[in-house]
Amino acid sequence: MGSHANIVAVAAVLAALVAVGSCGPPKVKPGPNITTNYNGKWLPAKATWYGSPTGSGPADNGGACGIKDVNLPPYSGMIACGNLPIFKDGKGCGSCYEIRCKEPEECSYQPSTVFITDMNYEKISAYHFDLSGKAFGSLAKPGLNSNLRHRGIIDVEFRRVRCKLPAGQKIVFHVEKACNPNYLAVLVKFVAGDGDIVNMELKEKASPEWKPLKLSWGAIWRIDTPKALKGPFSIRITSESGKKLVATDVIPVNWKADTAYTSNIQF
Ligand SMILES: *[C@@H]1O[C@H](CO)[C@@H](O)[C@H](O)[C@H]1NC(C)=O
Repeated sequence: MGSHANIVAVAAVLAALVAVGSCGPPKVKPGPNITTNYNGKWLPAKATWYGSPTGSGPADNGGACGIKDVNLPPYSGMIACGNLPIFKDGKGCGSCYEIRCKEPEECSYQPSTVFITDMNYEKISAYHFDLSGKAFGSLAKPGLNSNLRHRGIIDVEFRRVRCKLPAGQKIVFHVEKACNPNYLAVLVKFVAGDGDIVNMELKEKASPEWKPLKLSWGAIWRIDTPKALKGPFSIRITSESGKKLVATDVIPVNWKADTAYTSNIQF
Protein backbone atom coordinates (compact mmCIF):
# COMPACT_ATOMS: atom_id res chain seq x y z
CA MET A 1 0.00 0.00 0.00
CA GLY A 2 1.03 3.60 -0.32
CA SER A 3 2.62 5.77 -2.88
CA HIS A 4 5.93 5.14 -4.47
CA ALA A 5 7.35 8.57 -5.03
CA ASN A 6 9.35 8.81 -8.15
CA ILE A 7 13.00 9.62 -7.77
CA VAL A 8 12.63 12.56 -10.13
CA ALA A 9 9.76 13.93 -8.06
CA VAL A 10 11.65 13.50 -4.80
CA ALA A 11 14.70 15.19 -6.29
CA ALA A 12 12.52 18.08 -7.44
CA VAL A 13 10.98 18.46 -3.98
CA LEU A 14 14.41 18.40 -2.35
CA ALA A 15 15.70 20.95 -4.86
CA ALA A 16 12.73 23.20 -4.10
CA LEU A 17 13.41 22.95 -0.36
CA VAL A 18 17.04 23.87 -0.80
CA ALA A 19 16.02 26.76 -3.05
CA VAL A 20 13.80 28.34 -0.40
CA GLY A 21 16.32 27.66 2.36
CA SER A 22 13.83 25.69 4.39
CA CYS A 23 15.02 23.71 7.41
CA GLY A 24 12.72 20.75 6.97
CA PRO A 25 9.97 19.32 4.88
CA PRO A 26 6.99 21.66 4.57
CA LYS A 27 3.99 20.39 6.47
CA VAL A 28 0.98 21.64 4.62
CA LYS A 29 -2.37 20.71 6.08
CA PRO A 30 -4.67 18.76 3.77
CA GLY A 31 -7.60 20.75 2.37
CA PRO A 32 -11.28 20.00 3.04
CA ASN A 33 -12.60 16.73 1.58
CA ILE A 34 -13.62 16.96 -2.05
CA THR A 35 -17.23 15.84 -2.50
CA THR A 36 -19.55 15.36 -5.49
CA ASN A 37 -19.60 19.02 -6.42
CA TYR A 38 -19.38 18.47 -10.15
CA ASN A 39 -19.72 22.09 -11.21
CA GLY A 40 -17.13 23.25 -8.75
CA LYS A 41 -14.48 25.72 -9.71
CA TRP A 42 -10.95 24.67 -10.53
CA LEU A 43 -8.80 24.41 -7.40
CA PRO A 44 -5.01 24.57 -7.11
CA ALA A 45 -2.96 21.44 -6.36
CA LYS A 46 0.52 20.06 -6.79
CA ALA A 47 1.17 17.15 -9.11
CA THR A 48 4.05 14.70 -9.11
CA TRP A 49 4.39 11.37 -10.85
CA TYR A 50 5.45 7.85 -10.00
CA GLY A 51 5.92 4.50 -11.62
CA SER A 52 7.16 4.11 -15.15
CA PRO A 53 7.41 7.14 -17.47
CA THR A 54 4.79 5.91 -19.89
CA GLY A 55 2.60 3.80 -17.65
CA SER A 56 1.43 3.38 -14.13
CA GLY A 57 4.25 1.12 -12.92
CA PRO A 58 4.15 -0.33 -9.41
CA ALA A 59 0.49 0.52 -8.87
CA ASP A 60 -0.45 -1.85 -11.70
CA ASN A 61 -0.59 -4.58 -9.13
CA GLY A 62 -2.70 -2.80 -6.59
CA GLY A 63 -2.18 0.48 -4.86
CA ALA A 64 -3.93 1.60 -1.69
CA CYS A 65 -7.32 0.91 -3.30
CA GLY A 66 -6.42 -2.74 -3.96
CA ILE A 67 -7.42 -2.45 -7.63
CA LYS A 68 -5.04 -4.42 -9.84
CA ASP A 69 -4.13 -4.08 -13.50
CA VAL A 70 -4.91 -0.36 -13.55
CA ASN A 71 -2.68 -0.13 -16.64
CA LEU A 72 -5.37 -2.07 -18.55
CA PRO A 73 -8.73 -0.72 -19.78
CA PRO A 74 -10.93 0.83 -18.62
CA TYR A 75 -8.49 2.79 -16.40
CA SER A 76 -5.71 2.37 -18.98
CA GLY A 77 -3.04 3.85 -16.72
CA MET A 78 -4.86 7.19 -16.36
CA ILE A 79 -4.64 6.94 -12.59
CA ALA A 80 -3.48 8.93 -9.58
CA CYS A 81 -2.76 8.71 -5.89
CA GLY A 82 -4.84 11.31 -4.10
CA ASN A 83 -3.94 12.82 -0.77
CA LEU A 84 -6.30 12.55 2.21
CA PRO A 85 -9.17 14.84 1.08
CA ILE A 86 -9.23 13.03 -2.28
CA PHE A 87 -8.51 9.44 -1.21
CA LYS A 88 -10.72 9.79 1.91
CA ASP A 89 -9.46 6.65 3.65
CA GLY A 90 -10.44 4.58 0.62
CA LYS A 91 -13.90 6.06 0.11
CA GLY A 92 -12.46 8.14 -2.74
CA CYS A 93 -11.25 5.04 -4.60
CA GLY A 94 -12.54 5.12 -8.17
CA SER A 95 -13.52 8.79 -8.17
CA CYS A 96 -12.49 10.97 -11.11
CA TYR A 97 -10.76 14.30 -11.49
CA GLU A 98 -9.91 16.59 -14.34
CA ILE A 99 -6.42 17.99 -14.04
CA ARG A 100 -4.73 20.65 -16.15
CA CYS A 101 -1.56 22.71 -15.96
CA LYS A 102 -0.69 26.12 -17.38
CA GLU A 103 2.97 26.36 -16.26
CA PRO A 104 5.68 25.32 -17.10
CA GLU A 105 5.69 26.02 -20.81
CA GLU A 106 5.36 22.33 -21.72
CA CYS A 107 1.80 22.37 -20.33
CA SER A 108 -1.09 22.23 -22.80
CA TYR A 109 -3.73 23.49 -20.32
CA GLN A 110 -6.04 20.83 -21.76
CA PRO A 111 -7.61 18.76 -18.97
CA SER A 112 -6.86 15.07 -18.55
CA THR A 113 -9.18 12.84 -16.55
CA VAL A 114 -7.75 10.46 -13.96
CA PHE A 115 -9.18 7.77 -11.69
CA ILE A 116 -8.10 7.65 -8.05
CA THR A 117 -6.62 4.21 -7.41
CA ASP A 118 -4.01 4.93 -4.74
CA MET A 119 -3.10 7.35 -1.97
CA ASN A 120 -0.11 9.47 -1.11
CA TYR A 121 1.05 10.62 2.31
CA GLU A 122 3.19 13.54 1.27
CA LYS A 123 2.23 16.85 2.83
CA ILE A 124 3.45 19.16 0.09
CA SER A 125 0.15 20.93 -0.55
CA ALA A 126 -3.50 21.00 0.52
CA TYR A 127 -4.32 18.89 -2.52
CA HIS A 128 -1.79 16.62 -4.18
CA PHE A 129 -2.07 14.20 -7.08
CA ASP A 130 0.75 11.72 -7.57
CA LEU A 131 -0.01 10.74 -11.15
CA SER A 132 1.09 7.79 -13.23
CA GLY A 133 3.82 8.73 -15.69
CA LYS A 134 1.28 8.42 -18.50
CA ALA A 135 -1.27 10.71 -16.84
CA PHE A 136 1.39 13.30 -15.93
CA GLY A 137 2.76 13.29 -19.48
CA SER A 138 -0.76 13.71 -20.89
CA LEU A 139 -0.88 17.22 -19.42
CA ALA A 140 1.79 18.32 -21.91
CA LYS A 141 1.56 19.80 -25.36
CA PRO A 142 1.99 17.19 -28.12
CA GLY A 143 5.51 15.73 -28.12
CA LEU A 144 6.52 17.34 -24.82
CA ASN A 145 5.33 14.71 -22.36
CA SER A 146 8.85 13.57 -21.56
CA ASN A 147 10.05 17.17 -21.07
CA LEU A 148 7.15 17.81 -18.71
CA ARG A 149 7.95 14.67 -16.70
CA HIS A 150 11.46 16.03 -16.16
CA ARG A 151 9.90 18.90 -14.20
CA GLY A 152 9.04 16.36 -11.49
CA ILE A 153 6.64 18.56 -9.56
CA ILE A 154 4.24 21.09 -11.04
CA ASP A 155 1.31 23.30 -10.11
CA VAL A 156 -2.00 22.09 -11.50
CA GLU A 157 -5.68 22.95 -11.33
CA PHE A 158 -8.25 20.26 -10.69
CA ARG A 159 -11.95 19.61 -10.30
CA ARG A 160 -14.08 16.59 -9.54
CA VAL A 161 -15.89 15.17 -12.56
CA ARG A 162 -18.28 12.29 -13.14
CA CYS A 163 -16.47 9.14 -14.16
CA LYS A 164 -17.06 8.11 -17.74
CA LEU A 165 -16.39 4.51 -18.69
CA PRO A 166 -16.59 2.83 -22.07
CA ALA A 167 -20.14 1.99 -23.20
CA GLY A 168 -21.19 -1.38 -21.86
CA GLN A 169 -18.67 -1.41 -19.01
CA LYS A 170 -20.50 -2.80 -15.96
CA ILE A 171 -19.50 -2.68 -12.32
CA VAL A 172 -17.20 -5.54 -11.30
CA PHE A 173 -17.06 -7.20 -7.88
CA HIS A 174 -13.90 -9.10 -7.05
CA VAL A 175 -14.08 -11.67 -4.26
CA GLU A 176 -10.69 -11.35 -2.62
CA LYS A 177 -8.14 -14.03 -1.80
CA ALA A 178 -8.66 -16.14 1.35
CA CYS A 179 -12.40 -15.52 1.48
CA ASN A 180 -14.54 -18.24 3.01
CA PRO A 181 -18.19 -18.56 4.07
CA ASN A 182 -17.41 -16.74 7.36
CA TYR A 183 -15.34 -13.99 5.82
CA LEU A 184 -16.20 -12.30 2.61
CA ALA A 185 -14.19 -9.37 1.25
CA VAL A 186 -15.42 -7.78 -1.97
CA LEU A 187 -13.56 -5.20 -4.03
CA VAL A 188 -15.70 -2.94 -6.22
CA LYS A 189 -14.34 -1.37 -9.40
CA PHE A 190 -15.31 0.25 -12.70
CA VAL A 191 -18.02 2.45 -11.20
CA ALA A 192 -19.28 5.25 -13.48
CA GLY A 193 -20.72 8.55 -12.26
CA ASP A 194 -19.56 9.28 -8.72
CA GLY A 195 -17.01 6.50 -9.18
CA ASP A 196 -16.75 5.85 -5.47
CA ILE A 197 -18.84 3.76 -3.11
CA VAL A 198 -19.75 4.80 0.43
CA ASN A 199 -21.81 1.77 1.46
CA MET A 200 -22.10 -1.88 0.53
CA GLU A 201 -24.62 -4.47 1.72
CA LEU A 202 -25.04 -8.15 0.96
CA LYS A 203 -28.09 -10.41 0.80
CA GLU A 204 -28.13 -14.18 0.70
CA LYS A 205 -30.72 -15.41 -1.78
CA ALA A 206 -32.60 -17.36 0.85
CA SER A 207 -32.75 -14.43 3.29
CA PRO A 208 -34.69 -11.15 3.16
CA GLU A 209 -32.03 -9.40 5.23
CA TRP A 210 -29.49 -6.95 3.84
CA LYS A 211 -26.30 -7.29 5.89
CA PRO A 212 -23.96 -4.30 6.04
CA LEU A 213 -20.34 -4.70 4.99
CA LYS A 214 -17.72 -2.43 6.41
CA LEU A 215 -14.94 -0.75 4.53
CA SER A 216 -11.89 -2.95 5.06
CA TRP A 217 -9.38 -0.84 3.13
CA GLY A 218 -9.23 0.86 -0.24
CA ALA A 219 -12.12 -0.32 -2.41
CA ILE A 220 -12.55 -3.54 -0.40
CA TRP A 221 -15.62 -4.11 1.77
CA ARG A 222 -15.86 -7.03 4.20
CA ILE A 223 -18.22 -8.99 6.37
CA ASP A 224 -17.21 -11.38 9.13
CA THR A 225 -19.88 -13.66 10.49
CA PRO A 226 -19.91 -16.75 12.72
CA LYS A 227 -22.85 -18.10 10.68
CA ALA A 228 -21.64 -19.31 7.29
CA LEU A 229 -22.90 -17.24 4.40
CA LYS A 230 -24.59 -19.07 1.58
CA GLY A 231 -24.75 -17.77 -1.98
CA PRO A 232 -25.86 -16.66 -4.39
CA PHE A 233 -25.33 -13.17 -3.03
CA SER A 234 -26.89 -9.93 -4.16
CA ILE A 235 -24.93 -6.77 -3.49
CA ARG A 236 -26.41 -3.32 -2.90
CA ILE A 237 -24.06 -0.38 -3.29
CA THR A 238 -24.49 3.30 -2.49
CA SER A 239 -22.42 5.81 -4.39
CA GLU A 240 -21.09 9.00 -2.80
CA SER A 241 -24.10 11.09 -3.89
CA GLY A 242 -26.50 8.57 -2.34
CA LYS A 243 -27.61 6.63 -5.42
CA LYS A 244 -28.22 2.94 -4.79
CA LEU A 245 -28.06 -0.02 -7.14
CA VAL A 246 -28.61 -3.73 -6.59
CA ALA A 247 -26.62 -6.40 -8.41
CA THR A 248 -28.97 -9.34 -8.02
CA ASP A 249 -27.30 -12.73 -7.44
CA VAL A 250 -24.03 -11.30 -8.78
CA ILE A 251 -21.93 -13.74 -6.74
CA PRO A 252 -23.03 -17.31 -7.54
CA VAL A 253 -23.69 -20.17 -5.14
CA ASN A 254 -20.40 -21.87 -6.05
CA TRP A 255 -18.32 -18.68 -5.76
CA LYS A 256 -14.55 -18.88 -5.48
CA ALA A 257 -12.00 -16.67 -3.75
CA ASP A 258 -9.79 -14.44 -5.91
CA THR A 259 -12.41 -14.25 -8.64
CA ALA A 260 -14.01 -11.30 -10.42
CA TYR A 261 -17.77 -11.28 -10.98
CA THR A 262 -19.10 -8.81 -13.52
CA SER A 263 -22.54 -7.43 -12.71
CA ASN A 264 -25.19 -6.18 -15.12
CA ILE A 265 -25.45 -2.84 -13.34
CA GLN A 266 -23.87 0.57 -13.82
CA PHE A 267 -24.66 4.07 -12.56
C1 LIG B 1 -12.98 13.31 5.14
O1 LIG B 1 -13.18 11.98 4.75
C2 LIG B 1 -12.74 11.03 5.70
C3 LIG B 1 -12.93 9.66 5.10
O2 LIG B 1 -14.24 9.40 4.72
C4 LIG B 1 -13.51 11.19 7.00
O3 LIG B 1 -13.05 10.27 7.95
C5 LIG B 1 -13.36 12.60 7.50
O4 LIG B 1 -14.17 12.78 8.62
C6 LIG B 1 -13.74 13.60 6.42
N1 LIG B 1 -13.44 14.92 6.87
C7 LIG B 1 -14.36 15.87 6.87
C8 LIG B 1 -13.89 17.19 7.36
O5 LIG B 1 -15.52 15.70 6.50
